[in-house]
Amino acid sequence: MSDTKQSIPKWREDFPIEQEFDDFITRRDFVRFLGLVSAGLMVGNASVVVSSLTHEEGPFPEMEVAGAADMKPGGWMVYKYPNEKTAAILIRRENGEYISFLQKCPHLACPVSYHRSNDEEGEHIGCYCHNGRFEVETGRGTQGPPRELRPLRQVVLRVDENSVTAIGLNEIHLA
Ligand code: FES
Repeated sequence: MSDTKQSIPKWREDFPIEQEFDDFITRRDFVRFLGLVSAGLMVGNASVVVSSLTHEEGPFPEMEVAGAADMKPGGWMVYKYPNEKTAAILIRRENGEYISFLQKCPHLACPVSYHRSNDEEGEHIGCYCHNGRFEVETGRGTQGPPRELRPLRQVVLRVDENSVTAIGLNEIHLA
C-alpha cells in the first residue's frame, strides 16, 4: 500500500468532490431552483387573476323558500341556496320585510346567525367564531374581523303575497 493511498481517508474516496466546487454547484442549483419556484408562483397567481376576472356567476336558479311565508316578524331560518351545499339565512324583520344572505362569514367561513333583542343592541347578524357582527340592512361588518372585509353576500328575493323566492345573488361589493 502506498503512502498516498494511506493519507486519503475512506470517506474521501467514496465522495471525491472538492468542497469549493461542491459549494459552487449547490449555489447555482439553488438559484435555478428559486427561479423555477418564482416562475411557477407567477404563473399560478396569473391564472388565479385571469380566472377571477373572466369567471361569470349564474344564471342562478329561482327557488321558493319553503315555510318563509309563515315566518313571524323577528324570526329567521336557514335554507339552501343557490345549491344544496350552500346555506343561506332568511330574516323577517320586525317591519315584516324579508332579507337574506349567504350564511358564510367572509372572515373564515363560520356560519352566521340572526340576533334580535329589545334593548339598545337591537338586531344584528353575528358570527361567534371571532365575535364578528354585521348590519342587517346591508350585511356590512360592524364589529370584529368582518369590519375589514367584504359584506355578507346578499340573496336577491322576490316576495309575493304567499311566497318568498330566492332569485339570485347580488354582486360582490368590496367593503
Ligand atoms: S369566522 Fe366569522 S368572525 Fe371569524
